[in-house]
Amino acid sequence: MKKIAVIEKIHQDGLDFLEKNPEYEYELITDVSEENLIKKLPEFDGCTLRVSKLNENILKHCPNLKVISRHGVGFDNVDLPYIKKKNISLLITATANAVAVAEHVIYMMLSISKSINKYDNEVRSGNFKKNASNIETLELFSKEMLIVGFGRIGKSLIKRCLGFDMKVNVFDPFVSAEVIKNFGGNKIENLEKGLEKCDYLSLHIPLTDKTKNMINYEKIKLMKKNAIIINTSRGGIINEIDLDKALKNNIIFGAGLDVFEKEPIDKKNPLIDNKKVLLSPHSATFTNECKSRMAIETTKNIIDFFENKLDKSMIVKT
Ligand SMILES: NC(=O)c1ccc[n+]([C@@H]2O[C@H](COP(=O)([O-])OP(=O)(O)OC[C@H]3O[C@@H](n4cnc5c(N)ncnc54)[C@H](O)[C@@H]3O)[C@@H](O)[C@H]2O)c1
Repeated sequence: MKKIAVIEKIHQDGLDFLEKNPEYEYELITDVSEENLIKKLPEFDGCTLRVSKLNENILKHCPNLKVISRHGVGFDNVDLPYIKKKNISLLITATANAVAVAEHVIYMMLSISKSINKYDNEVRSGNFKKNASNIETLELFSKEMLIVGFGRIGKSLIKRCLGFDMKVNVFDPFVSAEVIKNFGGNKIENLEKGLEKCDYLSLHIPLTDKTKNMINYEKIKLMKKNAIIINTSRGGIINEIDLDKALKNNIIFGAGLDVFEKEPIDKKNPLIDNKKVLLSPHSATFTNECKSRMAIETTKNIIDFFENKLDKSMIVKT
């Protein structure tokens, strides 16, 4: 019988899925200290993983481990060179979270455009309609959207933008014009040109040496005065100091960030006091529905792996 360690609590639906597969034994491990993982993990054949770190020091004690199933799509908490050397497979929940992130982008675009926080504040402070007509708000209708990165989330986002009658341009050097056209978008080859004409920019790319600081002050300066930037991908792709400066200098209308260079965000980060930016705590996937989907996909991936029926898109090439 294969043994699966569920490292950190996941949504009950994922545990129920394991219960329905009694030929697999599982144990929930909530003490994720290195010491406890070294003690517990050696007996398991597979494990699920949320945010705790699986480094070489822990993994070298796990001779049976064949598979790590990440609850999410990022995997910077796993020692990739080590698992490659030991032939341990790494899986992600490739299909579970794209919709939740795409909806989070739309929520941020609408909230910032409609200055929702200001309206809410006016009503609560007894200024019903006193200043409301002076608060500047914008519509998505017929505006130009620029999606950078046309993977799972970018593809889910475009459908929602088209639903608002937006015109969508896509910058992704690794996706063909034909694929983008089939989704109703228009491929652009030059990021700077895309930035110049877009009203909304949303980033859906990994953080790499090439994408770090991709959006800096010079790039933001190319954008329209009423442009809005959303980042739900990874902190560091937008230079936070440059963004804060650009917002304070009224270079663009606003920004929405779900991800930060340092998480949790530093209290001294100037964006904390900048009212032109809407912040959320890396929570784009925290909907009830997405937590359930991710937990089921995480546990199902392990079982599919052992039964040789895993969808290839779930496997990370290490
Ligand atoms: N906020 C959250 O909770 C949350 C949740 C899920 C994913 N994410 C992050 O969102 C990002 C996108 O996720 P995904 O599942 O869509 O990834 P994906 O791998 O499906 O797509 C990424 C796309 O980026 C493109 N790309 C890579 N480098 C590029 C570059 N320099 N310029 C333009 N395009 C480039 C790739 O061709 C690919 O199409 C990732 O960074 C992921 O970690 C965040």
